Amino acid sequence: SFLKLGALVAAGTVVAGCSSGTAHRPGAFANRLRIPPLLSPDLDASGTRRFELTLRTGSTELIPGLRASTWGINGDHLGPTLRMRRGDRVAMAVTNRIGEPTTLHWHGMRLPARMDGGPHQTVAPEATWRPEWTIDQPAATGWYHPHPHEQTARHVYRGLAGMIQIVDPEADAAGLPSDYGVDDIPLILQDKRLDSDGQLVEDFDGTFGLIGDTILVNGTFDPFVEVPAGRIRFRVLNASNARIYFLEFADGREFHVIGTDGGLLPGPAAVRRAVLSPGERLEIVASFAAGEQVVLRSVGERTDAATDIEEGDFDLLKIIAAGPRRDVSPLPARLSSAALPEAPPGARVRRMTLTGSEINGKDMDMTRIDEVVAAGAREIWEIHNTTYTHNFHIHEVAFRVLEINGAPPPAYLRGPKDTVYVPKQATVRLAVEFGRHADPAAPYMYHCHILRHEDKGMMGQFVIVAPGTEDRVSRLLPMPGH
Ligand code: C2O
Ligand code: CU
Ligand code: CU
Repeated sequence: SFLKLGALVAAGTVVAGCSSGTAHRPGAFANRLRIPPLLSPDLDASGTRRFELTLRTGSTELIPGLRASTWGINGDHLGPTLRMRRGDRVAMAVTNRIGEPTTLHWHGMRLPARMDGGPHQTVAPEATWRPEWTIDQPAATGWYHPHPHEQTARHVYRGLAGMIQIVDPEADAAGLPSDYGVDDIPLILQDKRLDSDGQLVEDFDGTFGLIGDTILVNGTFDPFVEVPAGRIRFRVLNASNARIYFLEFADGREFHVIGTDGGLLPGPAAVRRAVLSPGERLEIVASFAAGEQVVLRSVGERTDAATDIEEGDFDLLKIIAAGPRRDVSPLPARLSSAALPEAPPGARVRRMTLTGSEINGKDMDMTRIDEVVAAGAREIWEIHNTTYTHNFHIHEVAFRVLEINGAPPPAYLRGPKDTVYVPKQATVRLAVEFGRHADPAAPYMYHCHILRHEDKGMMGQFVIVAPGTEDRVSRLLPMPGH
């Protein structure tokens, strides 16, 4: 089912100097950044926004001139950006044409567990899955990707991933750049390992699984983007299997973080550097003078004992302020008045201890409910990492990072989130706000978003139930498919 097309590539097109498994050399910023097509269907007569997504096999020039076998959604590689508005009823038709079972998870969406696209919502080959829900959360940048049991790393790596953008009236009123692909630009960061034919190397073993040496942005190798002069918003998504990005501009300029995973920050946070672990999103705004050219890059911490994943230094994207200056209003001091997740005094505390590939000493078991949570609960979750680098993602919720190793988080991380970087040996405290879609027989997931770890079982399941019924819930689920 996964065609090897490498043999079809004429020998003369092979990039000189590349040997099997080594990086194809970037540096010229020769390729125009691909912008995923925007999918924002109109509301139909019943007031529903209907999205049709087909997961399929294809081929793409990940390296110009070399055709790689890839997977994509409505295309050969990656997927369209789904734009929806708060209050919308959305209906998805997800058709699986990749030749093996998979799922499609809406990462960051607050919705009923049966719509979530986790490992229990398998879509068989040639089947169509039709989840529906109502968007009931603030403006945010989310994403979608497969979540099949023990196979997530391979499915995401082959190209099944796309961005979700939720817009809402309050965020519109903040006057932020929002012209898609012009001054509001999606940046999907992924690292790949490519052989001399430009094919994806699939080697997911080892402590962290696949760490690529070739960085693609929206699937583009060595990219540049032309933008108008003025204020530009970038929605940065780390859709890599394991790599962590340490974002900065090559000239060290200041930029503003305006949003985290779950929505806008209360106000812009000025930074020169921001860290993004797998699954996390950051919305940033930077200003460019007419004619300016600046490189966005990732430069490892090196001296920081916090990361033991190979960090590397990578240029990500050259930004060329080519167009005429747009009318730019100043960044508002107040971006959002939405209340951040809080845990009231006396809130229940749950501890999650992360070891090599387990959470609280347990491996993922599809038939076991690990945690039972009351609908609408507000709790403290304390993540204790006893080993090497991990991160932590909770489906359905919004949380706020209260402390990292006893200290408040940097200002740019003080927005609503669903995924948090957990450096080695660190303890992270979260105020978690759960949704109200009670269903004692349909679990949500929490897990490390380093995909190798997730696939190896570093994941647990929780259900949301009617308050007062927690003790009556069965902790056992039937085997999937029975
Ligand atoms: Cu990005 Cu369990 O998900
Ligand atoms: Cu998720
Ligand atoms: Cu991990």
